[in-house]
Amino acid sequence: MFKTRYMFNRISQWYDLLNHLLSFGQDIVWRKRAVSFMLEEGGDHFLDVATGTGDVAFEILKQKPDAKVFGLDPAPKMVEVAQRKAFKKGKKLFLVLGEGERLPFKDETFDGITIAFGIRNVEDRKATLFEFYRVLKETGVAVILEFSKPSGIFRLIYDLYFHKILPIVGWIISRDKEAYSYLPESVERFPKPSEFAKELTEAGFKRVIYEKYTLGICHCYKAFKS
Ligand SMILES: C[S@@+](CC[C@H](N)C(=O)[O-])C[C@H]1O[C@@H](n2cnc3c(N)ncnc32)[C@H](O)[C@@H]1O
Repeated sequence: MFKTRYMFNRISQWYDLLNHLLSFGQDIVWRKRAVSFMLEEGGDHFLDVATGTGDVAFEILKQKPDAKVFGLDPAPKMVEVAQRKAFKKGKKLFLVLGEGERLPFKDETFDGITIAFGIRNVEDRKATLFEFYRVLKETGVAVILEFSKPSGIFRLIYDLYFHKILPIVGWIISRDKEAYSYLPESVERFPKPSEFAKELTEAGFKRVIYEKYTLGICHCYKAFKS
């Protein structure tokens, strides 16, 4: 985890630009859909774990302006960017430095938790999922947006882009070779959607549903506490 924390600190200034550029703007659509997937269940008290530069948290506030939203991340430089964006947008976002494995909140605090492109980066995924379960209210849901590997013929194009082109473009712009090679490598290691859904039920969630986005480049999971 310390490794990824330092890595995100290094690329914080380039993070948003590279996200939009390398995903051809799809990341914006994915976050929007993930947030409405969570808000379908109602509530007004939310936590965005691995908030980074805050884009999911801001999307929650956009779709539900009266919500109370916390954003948590261990990388101070990413959180600084989120803080600046909150100031510019005039949004009230409660930012906290911390890790998914040790959430600094009481049991049953939140109606919903989001984590976008972050569950892949935590050091202890099992502990993090247990923490999500703990801090959710009985009626709460955790929504997890994460990359996955597409199948079929599209996989060939995806592999070429994700493993060859993306790391080079990421490196040229951010001057950080490690960060943009780490991305495809960590996606390779992440479990298949059905396996990850099983991990969520093992953490205590009673029901898990998931949606495929953009031909399977990513999946969005919704896990119900009860
Ligand atoms: C790919 S970024 C995702 C940021 C944001 N959620 C988004 O949608 O753009 C991954 C984030 O995970 C954070 N992270 C790394 N280890 C973590 C941990 N143990 N707990 C919570 N966040 C962590 C990093 O600091 C980084 O900001």
